[in-house]
Amino acid sequence: MLDQPTASDHLRDSGERLSLDELRALQLERLQQTVRHAYANVPTYTQKLDQAGVHPDDIRTLDDIAKLPFTTKEDLRQSYPFGMFAVPMEQVVRIHASSGTTGRPTVVGYTQADLDHWADLVARSLRAAGVRPGMKVHNAYGYGLFTGGLGAHAGIERLGATVIPVSGGGTTRQVQLINDFKPDAIMCTPSYLLTIADAFEDAGLDPRESSLKIAICGAEPWTNEMRAELERRMGLVAVDIYGLSEVMGPGVASESAITKDGPTIWEDHFLPEVIDGDTGEVLPDGQMGELVFTSLTKTAFPVLRYRTRDLTRLLPGTAQPTMRRIEKITGRNDDMIILRGVNLFPTQIEEIALEIEHLTPHFILELVKRGQMDGLVVKIECTPGVKPVVSTAAAEILKLRIKERIGTTVDVEIVPAGSLPRSEGKYKRVYDFRTTPPVE
Ligand code: DLL
Repeated sequence: MLDQPTASDHLRDSGERLSLDELRALQLERLQQTVRHAYANVPTYTQKLDQAGVHPDDIRTLDDIAKLPFTTKEDLRQSYPFGMFAVPMEQVVRIHASSGTTGRPTVVGYTQADLDHWADLVARSLRAAGVRPGMKVHNAYGYGLFTGGLGAHAGIERLGATVIPVSGGGTTRQVQLINDFKPDAIMCTPSYLLTIADAFEDAGLDPRESSLKIAICGAEPWTNEMRAELERRMGLVAVDIYGLSEVMGPGVASESAITKDGPTIWEDHFLPEVIDGDTGEVLPDGQMGELVFTSLTKTAFPVLRYRTRDLTRLLPGTAQPTMRRIEKITGRNDDMIILRGVNLFPTQIEEIALEIEHLTPHFILELVKRGQMDGLVVKIECTPGVKPVVSTAAAEILKLRIKERIGTTVDVEIVPAGSLPRSEGKYKRVYDFRTTPPVE
């Protein structure tokens, strides 16, 4: 049995124990330092602040952050590879890069102090998930330029747990290692955990019988319905860990296993804002918009008001009362499909599909052109062995509910169980064939 993770004080580190007043004072001091450091050492920030007519001395309160210009992915791209590093290369001890599916990857750097903070925050995230020193953690996030593998790795060690550094892929072997090494917790993307659950069953094993009690999943949007599915199939508690390479990597925010109500932002290291993506206006807490972060302790790669493109809202603290949460992120600007004027996120389909009996979370979305019109085909697998009449009915229900809840008509195609590509990390769900027709 999993020990009830408690919110008791002895499990908290010094940052979590700060009172709200102490936290705000620390944030201001760190914000001022960060702005001064970025302005003095990164030409992009010097130029942007000068252009906006702002000087680091103008930051006197936390609200003054609104005077700073935003930073975008494009700013980072233009300074490829190391143009936005704020320390000489001799002080940079690690480099990571975002996958960069379009254009150049974004390169980020860390000093030793940055790596230490990162490890502390992943350790804090793991504690919030119920992981304790002495437990074994199977780390199936990819090792390499992606921040998932090495970021999680350092945090597991920092906590005093045992890391099993498996990396992503080679699913049969993952199942064998889980059986043999008996880890207490697993870290991987939610879609990859699903692949692992399937692989257990393919090997004739019941995933609920495995030693795993906790899953710390993130790096891609997923729904509470997917969480319930993973928890049911694997007999564990699944929590959400959030982060992005530009801001640090995994552990910018992470969820408590007690409350499971959205990741807590580790506000002693990152200052969050939510803005209207079109106007740039800062929105009050509780309102939905684009998440923006300013780093407070990073030395090699400070970020000022970095626009994440992730859509969410800021919520009051619960498990960690002094720090705000984000609502589980179910979409980013870039994932949004605009279908005949209606906005749609893949997670909305995930949520609806998982409510319908016999449908699985294995689906992809194909955007196609029909004459002048855009169309969307949902290709989805049913649970194995379902009769054709039942699967046809399930498809019909999915189509109706999508129409009802999202307001658009899509085609639903049931495909044979096991026929869709399986995740090995971040899952690609959307295929756009509007210019390139699908190969028959
Ligand atoms: O995905 C860092 C990470 C690794 C987070 C492992 C959690 C676990 P990037 O490759 O730079 O970094 O991708 C960052 O992934 O802007 C979000 O759109 C998405 N993302 C990350 N975590 C979550 C999450 C890592 N928990 C981008 N829920 C972010 C939803 C997430 N989306």
